[in-house]
Amino acid sequence: MSEFEGKHILLGVTGGIAAYKAIEIASRIKKEGGLVDVILTKGATNFVTPLSFGEVLGRKVYVDLWENQAEPVHIRLAEKADLVLIAPATANFIAKTANGMADDLLSTTMLAVKSPIVVAPAMNTNMLNNPVTSENISKLKSLGMRIIPPAEGILACGAKGAGRLPEPMEIVEFARSVLSNNKRTLSGKKIIVTAGGTIAPIDPVRFIGNRSTGKMGFAVAEEAVSRGANVVLVTGVSHLKDVHGAKTVRVETTEEMRTAVLAEYDNADAVIKSAAVADYGLEEVATEKIKKKDGEFVLRLVRNPDILKELGEKKKNQILVGFAAETEKLAEYANKKLVEKNLDFIVANNVKSEGAGFGTDTNIAKLMFRDGRVIDAPIMEKSELAKIILDEVESLM
Ligand code: CTP
Repeated sequence: MSEFEGKHILLGVTGGIAAYKAIEIASRIKKEGGLVDVILTKGATNFVTPLSFGEVLGRKVYVDLWENQAEPVHIRLAEKADLVLIAPATANFIAKTANGMADDLLSTTMLAVKSPIVVAPAMNTNMLNNPVTSENISKLKSLGMRIIPPAEGILACGAKGAGRLPEPMEIVEFARSVLSNNKRTLSGKKIIVTAGGTIAPIDPVRFIGNRSTGKMGFAVAEEAVSRGANVVLVTGVSHLKDVHGAKTVRVETTEEMRTAVLAEYDNADAVIKSAAVADYGLEEVATEKIKKKDGEFVLRLVRNPDILKELGEKKKNQILVGFAAETEKLAEYANKKLVEKNLDFIVANNVKSEGAGFGTDTNIAKLMFRDGRVIDAPIMEKSELAKIILDEVESLM
């Protein structure tokens, strides 16, 4: 059965020369059983007409926000959409969407959409490479929208470069993959994810920290959101932006992370603890900046709580997943943590291996389970590893 069968696809067409390709996109999706609603912007009607789509789809095509004042069309179309596909997306549409503007039917509808959104930008190369457009596209990505990279070639304006709308078939395939990956398998489940590193403050200026950037935990949180989970992301130090759709709690110290995690723990279905937690802190943090003096300077560190161990002790039905960052004896040390912290499985990685560990976009990991089962994950993007981790969490649930 086609992924499109019975699915409501909202196709937004904006005013670019490639708008004619959207007719074929609509037709292909319809042939596979998709129920396509089309919204044309005013600009799009300079290139294609509502009639062209109406003929192909045999259903009403929308242009005007104010056409039927008795019914909020924008809300109805947004609510029933299983997927929103914007092809082609002009620079203007992208700028408006990135800033939440709502001055016509399509942009207003966009604000009410809850389904995945796929955007296919198409424009002149210079417009595409303009820093403002790049920034707007990045903003859409950070909001969780999926961007189909524009193709390269001779553009309608005669220029050569990136900016072409890919062929309808490629766009349909991209939309298909988003639809099929959008299995809301964690719908109704509450998942706590920790990320980043906690720090040990010394005084108002200085701290002891670690090299964690939060990439692994943020990838897990993003994947859990896309599977429909109710996600609480508790993150230590990280420059990454909040995960759209998750409740992001930012903390600094281990004690703050402990409080934030415990506050959410009782009704959680799973905890994935990828944070690099500082095991030691200062007995007393200086309230004023420490001034240098002659001679040695000794810092006395005391043990911080082991958050995951405490979660393991308090565990009821929660699935507990830990991480083990090691530089030697990976399996031995990770297995010890698996047992001592009462985990369901542990994701072990050697942070000294190239392509694994702190700050990289990739990771190499061993997933080790209570029954001795081991999954070896070769080098892959952290976002891919996040999928494997959540697949295992789901099957344990
Ligand atoms: N962890 C935690 N609280 C701590 C230390 C670690 O919750 N105070 C969690 C981490 O988030 C991770 C797992 O425990 O999921 C293992 O962390 P790691 O730093 O590898 O190991 P430690 O238990 O701290 O042991 P060691 O530093 O001796 O390797």
